[in-house]
Amino acid sequence: MRILSGIQPSGKLHIGNYFGMMKTMIGHMESSDLFVFIVDLHALTSVHDKERLATGTLEAAADFIALGLDPDKCTFWVQSDVPEVCELTWVLSTIAPMGLLERCHSYKDKIAKGISPSHGLFSYPVLMAADILLYQADRVPVGKDQKQHLEVARDLAHKFNITFGDTFTVPEPAIDEQTAVVPGLDGQKMSKSYGNTIPIFLSGKPLKKQIMAIKTDGAAVEEPKNPDTCILFQLFSLFAEPARLHQVRELYLNGGAAYGYIKVELFELIEAHFEVARKRKQELLDDAGKLRRILKNGAEKARVQAIPTLEKVRERIGCIY
Ligand code: ADP
Ligand code: TRP
Repeated sequence: MRILSGIQPSGKLHIGNYFGMMKTMIGHMESSDLFVFIVDLHALTSVHDKERLATGTLEAAADFIALGLDPDKCTFWVQSDVPEVCELTWVLSTIAPMGLLERCHSYKDKIAKGISPSHGLFSYPVLMAADILLYQADRVPVGKDQKQHLEVARDLAHKFNITFGDTFTVPEPAIDEQTAVVPGLDGQKMSKSYGNTIPIFLSGKPLKKQIMAIKTDGAAVEEPKNPDTCILFQLFSLFAEPARLHQVRELYLNGGAAYGYIKVELFELIEAHFEVARKRKQELLDDAGKLRRILKNGAEKARVQAIPTLEKVRERIGCIY
């Protein structure tokens, strides 16, 4: 079973990325044919700063490896190192109905958040479909926000297969409902583009500051509260041991939950959770040459899969050779 997913290097990776996608992917490493990549061409729809894109790409790669991804046990690369994806994007764009792309809410959401509307931003789902179909992925683990983009990939695979003959595996989405949407500090989806994140590798004072900024209501300590609508409780539940979580849940329901104390406990839990990975990340970034070599190696492995798919596509659509 081939499992594939990508992540944008458009800012520091956060705990929404970790629980929504990275942890799941790392968990699949031993049991499947795993493909993981950093989608720098997608990030180009919002980042037009050479340094930021390059640093973000290397950092995202270091994050993944520090958190446990072993590049020898999977195919791990940077999207732009496999140029075949751009050719497939064009081919798919010629069968992508405008209506299908116009219905994608991520485009509208991003514009509403101030990202400038470009052709690339609009056709973002087509590049994502090419990412998935080029490698004949069976399953694609993502957060809930990417569900519609996966529908686009499935639709385009079907349409291509019907129009030109069976070529692509139709991918299945894999969405973990429990962690499908990790809320941000303000209660919206945690997202790099919304400025409401807790970065995975933040620590010390800056981390504490972010956690103290988690939005809570003005209820007094002794008042009963609803844990299921509380952003702080949702974030706490990602890190706390089950027994402790149960205790805190009871405090919410029966009165006695003090937001300030829970925030300090959450701060300590996050510090401890990523402590080992934090050190590993620094070591990786200190040897950027080695990190680059790992990624170039990964791109070579990815191209071994990409080239035959693209050759088949060229033959099916009528490119002469
Ligand atoms: P961002 O919105 O921060 O830019 P990306 O779009 O790069 O994040 O998403 C990378 C992966 O992380 C995707 O699979 C996405 O579904 C997942 N993801 C992003 N934010 C969250 C979140 N708040 N909760 C759960 N999963 C998320
Ligand atoms: N669009 C995805 C996101 O923002 C990232 C992505 C690009 C992706 N290509 C992909 C995810 C292919 C899964 C498979 O999160």
